[in-house]
Amino acid sequence: MCGIIGAVAQRDITEILIEGLRRLEYRGYDSAGLTIIDDKGEFQRIRRVGKVYELSSATECKSLHGIIGIAHTRWATHGEPTEYNAHPHLSNYIAIAHNGIIENAESLRQQLIAKNYHFTSETDSEVIAHMVHDKCQQSTTLVKAVIKVLTLLQGTYGTVIIDRRQPDIIVAVRSGSPLVIGLGIGENFIASDPLALLPVTHRFIYLEEGDIAEISSRKVTIFNKQGIPVIRNTIETTLHYDAGDKGEYRHYMQKEIYQQPTAIKNTLEKRIKHEHVELSELGHEAEQLLKRVEHIQIVACGTSYNAGLVSRYWFESLIGLSCDVEIASEFRYRKPVVRKNSLFISLSQSGETADTLAALRISKNIGYLGSLAICNVSSSSLIRESDLSIITKAGVEIGVASTKAFTTQLTVLLLLVAKFSQLNNRPVSIEYEIVQALQKLPNRIEHLLSFGNVIENLAKEFSEKNHALFLGRGSHYPIAMEGALKLKEISYIHAEAYAAGELKHGPIALIDSNMPVIVIAPNNKLIEKLKSNIEEIRARGGLLYIFTDKNNEFINSDSMKIIHLPYIETLTSPIFYTIPLQLLSYYVALIKGTDVDQPRNLAKSVTVE
Ligand code: M6R
Repeated sequence: MCGIIGAVAQRDITEILIEGLRRLEYRGYDSAGLTIIDDKGEFQRIRRVGKVYELSSATECKSLHGIIGIAHTRWATHGEPTEYNAHPHLSNYIAIAHNGIIENAESLRQQLIAKNYHFTSETDSEVIAHMVHDKCQQSTTLVKAVIKVLTLLQGTYGTVIIDRRQPDIIVAVRSGSPLVIGLGIGENFIASDPLALLPVTHRFIYLEEGDIAEISSRKVTIFNKQGIPVIRNTIETTLHYDAGDKGEYRHYMQKEIYQQPTAIKNTLEKRIKHEHVELSELGHEAEQLLKRVEHIQIVACGTSYNAGLVSRYWFESLIGLSCDVEIASEFRYRKPVVRKNSLFISLSQSGETADTLAALRISKNIGYLGSLAICNVSSSSLIRESDLSIITKAGVEIGVASTKAFTTQLTVLLLLVAKFSQLNNRPVSIEYEIVQALQKLPNRIEHLLSFGNVIENLAKEFSEKNHALFLGRGSHYPIAMEGALKLKEISYIHAEAYAAGELKHGPIALIDSNMPVIVIAPNNKLIEKLKSNIEEIRARGGLLYIFTDKNNEFINSDSMKIIHLPYIETLTSPIFYTIPLQLLSYYVALIKGTDVDQPRNLAKSVTVE
């Protein structure tokens, strides 16, 4: 993880760096720092533990000025979040900021200590600073020194480097961690994400794996791993950054929960025409490929993985297309047997999750028909590296706990099921019912959100608990998983999800009057089975919270609270039942006073494995 930004200009760049860090804070927020070269050619470095505002207050007090500098917001991997572990790291005239993990750092550290280098941090990153300094002594340019260092590093590194003897050049290297160059007029920039640079430019060059860039205020030269100059395309982006404003909401997460009707509407827009699903962005040739698909392999992490799990029920039960779903960090380290005519689908909000990207790269060489990315960021590595892509139109998601990205992923997945149904000449009623249910969904969620106060009242009881169980069956089992994940993430209450039928195989031993059990109980063909599971919990004195609809006859009591939700079509019910669980975790976190948008230990985009 971590966010990096660098700038070389003919004006003061301090505020550009700070604003860039604010926009990168979703990548980590343990500590932050910046280093600029001042008008005397000296490094000025400020680092602070905590969020970027700590750093920005410190820079205001110190009145920093410079026309070249680098900055970093950290998510700790090696070494705790302290000021001395914060980046940039210095080695005499060299300063570096790094995103990634240097796997052979310990042996490099020993070699550098033997050469009398003195370490001031516990990080793996500091070795890069000393190694560049070391190689500078045998190289004519900074870029040549950096190329020599790269041959010795193992691991991942998006890194920016400056040399105060050459105060007009930033060298940037990309390996495993994304970096994008922002092109200005008489000024140029580098960052982990184009969002960080939108206040200063809309023209970008995405570095490819292994690229090394030499960036001055007037020129950008890019080399490949071998040091040979290469040309990379310049892209003019239409991205815009609408994150600045929480509007009437107290937190981004709350805003994003309430944005879901619009996010789903936007995701459906232009994709349903005359009651038919059209995914024109896939292109005509894709249809030929999709027609050959006999199996789907979905790979993702966290909330995106939960979305994949829901869709497995849809692919298999609605159109008989077999589907496997796997966590990316597992998929990448086993030797999967690829089924005949299998399509690899990656799901990701950010499109920069290291494990998901690694899985995609592996998938290219092991016999899949092709790859399809479903992602919320059109400029992401995942989209650029996949054969086909469908963008979820959730809009920028700032809250670390994913909400609208999840429900729009499910929306796209359901559209995709309809598309396969159409291409494989399944009964037209399947596509018709999906389309009908999806079109009604935004209004249904709008109505549901007006019940927010019911959930808010419930949250008071929850906030005193230390543990919770979430139960569901069928396509609502992954929704139970998502509910438990949200509660853990932002309220720090330990929560587990189980398939309701599995409870009696062990977890039922946990049931007592202090263990809240949340049951997702929509009216579907599994409801009678679920009722039996509920009885098993009641018989053991469990404290039940049942999310259900009015047609299900549950009776409120002290040990069984019934939360009646409005009617929803069976097909879109998993999306719908997610919303009250998001609200529940949000209100519990509010009562507990946690940092809702930036919960402890987490980062929005997990770019390290
Ligand atoms: O950007 P991605 O969807 O690839 O991220 C995957 C997970 O890191 C992410 O969903 C994480 O679990 C969220 N914080 C959950 O709210």
